[in-house]
Amino acid sequence: MGFRKDFLWGGAIAAHQAEGAWDVDGKGISIADVMTAGDNVTKTPRRITRGVLEGEDYPNHLGIDFYHHYKEDIALMAEMGFKAFRTSIAWTRIYPNGDDEEPNEAGLAFYDDMFDTCRQYGIEPVITLSHFEMPYHLAEKYNGFMDRRCIDFFVRYAKTCFARYKGKVKYWMTFNEINNQAEHVRMGAHHLVQEGAVLVNEGDDVEKLMYTSAHHELVASALAVKACHEIDPDAMIGCMIGMNGVYPASPDPHDVLNAQKAMLQKYYFVEVHARGHYSKGMLKKFERKGYDFIKPGDAEILAEGKVDYIGFSYYMSFATKFTGRFGDTYDFSEEDYVRNTYLKASDWGWQIDPIGLRWCLNWFNDRFELPMMIVENGFGAYDKKEEDGTVDDQYRIDYLKEHIKAMRDAVNYDGIDLMGYTMWAPIDIVSASTGEYDKRYGFIYVDYNNKHEGDMSRSRKKSFYWYQKVCQSNGEEL
Ligand code: BG6
Repeated sequence: MGFRKDFLWGGAIAAHQAEGAWDVDGKGISIADVMTAGDNVTKTPRRITRGVLEGEDYPNHLGIDFYHHYKEDIALMAEMGFKAFRTSIAWTRIYPNGDDEEPNEAGLAFYDDMFDTCRQYGIEPVITLSHFEMPYHLAEKYNGFMDRRCIDFFVRYAKTCFARYKGKVKYWMTFNEINNQAEHVRMGAHHLVQEGAVLVNEGDDVEKLMYTSAHHELVASALAVKACHEIDPDAMIGCMIGMNGVYPASPDPHDVLNAQKAMLQKYYFVEVHARGHYSKGMLKKFERKGYDFIKPGDAEILAEGKVDYIGFSYYMSFATKFTGRFGDTYDFSEEDYVRNTYLKASDWGWQIDPIGLRWCLNWFNDRFELPMMIVENGFGAYDKKEEDGTVDDQYRIDYLKEHIKAMRDAVNYDGIDLMGYTMWAPIDIVSASTGEYDKRYGFIYVDYNNKHEGDMSRSRKKSFYWYQKVCQSNGEEL
């Protein structure tokens, strides 16, 4: 009973939310660099500007300056007993414009040193190739993944990384939360920008844009998987799915079928990654809609690029009520979801559901029978730093503890093959959805806030010492 001996306990961040140094050492502008700050209190959403504009607040330009602090930050992670550290490579440090012929040596060298630092502490880097940070130039010149040339640019970038970091990085993932774009109606078209650098113009058929660019990404991902296997047979490469299960709001069969449709809409991506082909239901849908983006040769590429494991994030669950529109044009909007009265929610409205994590692990396992890694799970909250410098974040401990218990049950009772758990995020960083500093996830407090006050100094919260015990006891002591 219990987690495997080599279980990868750790934490996860992403380059654009932490590194800062947005224009240092030859780095190009990424799509994260043109996203403004939002605010949960005033309900101000993030905006995407056309280029970097004077007078705008772009929090990702500074991040938490991990670019200059990574040695100190990784040392703190090692102190907690991390076995794994998940982050991403900023594509724009390696290929500043995305379509450059040659990579930027300074960018490659930065990650060499970061990965070496991890390995000195016995920490395995778990690396995402594209985490909401595609080169902005690809958006402007090609409309991102709407253009098949971006498949080649991504594959060139991926191959450069596999060759350079062979032996240093054993665990890779291709596109972070590739499936978020399926929720562009509910969450906004900016998800197409975040995921595939696709800029949406007035009058565009957004659904068609989404399926087309997502298909090109799936092809790019499969080619990268194949290249990874060829370049470094000792490495494992997975997909990364944003997993938040959808329950029926009631036993009404309409709600039950509706929930099943929602799952298909949100998670068809993993079928392609794991099985190497689309489900019949999705192909039927593309046929009915007259979509012809699947070109000769694509099916073979998808079949040859099946992932080795499923990486996924889990924060919350949803419940859906039938609103009279499942069928061809099915797409989820805010009104399709209802509040689950059995669950509490965070200050950002994210419904807290530890049992849902076990449900999701089983959902994946029933269908794909692949090893899994939970590569994000965490609690964003307003923390209060006391006069004496301490932060009592018991709510974060409670959240994580219940989720780890559910995951342990899934391993012990459901036979789930779980490789690791990299919670989000071991250190406070910029929020992806709102662009805030005040939405904190860390065990390590970073002295900086939405108003740009603070000196960026790092300190240990109460949860730091709790997670240290979890890592050191291989999940026995919660
Ligand atoms: C996931 C992303 O969606 O959730 C991360 O992969 C993100 O980049 C995390 O930070 C938490 O979301 P947020 O909006 O609270 O930062």
